Amino acid sequence: MMRVGLCGLGTVGSGLFNLFSNNGEEINRKTGDAPKLIQVGCRRDHPDCDLSTTSVTRDIFDVARNPDVDILVELIGGTDTAKDLVMEAINNGKHVVTANKALIALHGDEVFAAAAEKNVTVRFEAAIAGGIPIVKSIREGLAGNRIEWVAGIINGTSNFILSEMASPGSNRSFEDVLKEAQDLGYAEADPTFDVEGIDAAHKLTILASIAFGVPLSFSAIYTEGISAVTSADIRFADELGYRIRHLGIARRRTDGVELRVHPTLVAREQILAQVDGVMNAVMVGSDAAGATMYYGAGAGAGPTASAVMADIIDVSRTGTSLSDIGFVDLSETRFVPIEEIRTSYYLRLAVVDRPGVMAEVTSILSEHEVSIEALIQKDARPSDAQIVIVTNDILESEINDAIRQLQSLDEVTAAISRIRIADFR
Ligand code: HSE
Repeated sequence: MMRVGLCGLGTVGSGLFNLFSNNGEEINRKTGDAPKLIQVGCRRDHPDCDLSTTSVTRDIFDVARNPDVDILVELIGGTDTAKDLVMEAINNGKHVVTANKALIALHGDEVFAAAAEKNVTVRFEAAIAGGIPIVKSIREGLAGNRIEWVAGIINGTSNFILSEMASPGSNRSFEDVLKEAQDLGYAEADPTFDVEGIDAAHKLTILASIAFGVPLSFSAIYTEGISAVTSADIRFADELGYRIRHLGIARRRTDGVELRVHPTLVAREQILAQVDGVMNAVMVGSDAAGATMYYGAGAGAGPTASAVMADIIDVSRTGTSLSDIGFVDLSETRFVPIEEIRTSYYLRLAVVDRPGVMAEVTSILSEHEVSIEALIQKDARPSDAQIVIVTNDILESEINDAIRQLQSLDEVTAAISRIRIADFR
């Protein structure tokens, strides 16, 4: 029987504690030998957990040093103390299960190297998309495939905000929507991590590593959050048949790997466009299975604890140091700069309403070989007119040049909105 020490009794920790209390029989039926929670390390008790029959320590490092603990579960979050804790547990020969995406994305190489040396395993299913078993799906269910791309809604808070902004008649403020995501246990302690795409980039870092075997490369990800998306963009996107979703995209190319996180126009009928609210969805394109999609709650006590428990059970069953990521070649991966992606774009320009402006705009676009697939022009008197354009597929560096030139026109009165368009099916 594997003996578990739990560090951290916040939202996820309390969810895990209660899974141990409530589902012990169910887990025993499946494993024949259910792992047992023998110690909890937490600064303070949690009102949802009855700790009266549990060994509790206020020093989480006691858990890492406890010779009776086989698996240390790290649910304290953050990267400094969490890293020290995990390293100490590994050095003491313990397996580690964590929900900490920042820790894995930023320090995973060091953590996995230490684990390999000590012949223990580090599991992190809960770090990506909460209750969705996406790590297991990629590493086990799709193990026989060459994965070509991964595209996901992997930040529930951003998706919730975009969905609310798009819902008819919703006049809720950004702060109000964010507060609800916080109450549901979704938002990060620092919600700029959600809104500016950092949380999604942490998750994409890990997804790309398990999908392609590339090194954990958070700094290689092009990251753009949702803070510049306006309700005008959402309305125009809708008029053109699209929804705006915040996606993490990883794609293999012959010349490297594309890694990007940004708001994206997705055609309304596509499945990713239909994922609303705080839900997450990850779509995986692979050579044999084709496109598969995984949907569910990306955070919260129950869903995240479910993923943590699955890892604990997995380690209990195998008891081995299965390779955690399975890197191929750490030195030769080329990460494709964002300027080298080729996609179509949504552009919105606020312009002075006078004859000849449209001609100037289209002439600049044609100089850059941009062709127009769709166009809306709205006279928004008494303020400026709006020109909204959907382009053909074009190199990002080329559209950047065109945008710079357009922006310098006297007739363009505000910063041009540019949102990439993507098609996953
Ligand atoms: N802040 C994250 C989200 C929580 O909103 O999806 C889970 O990582």
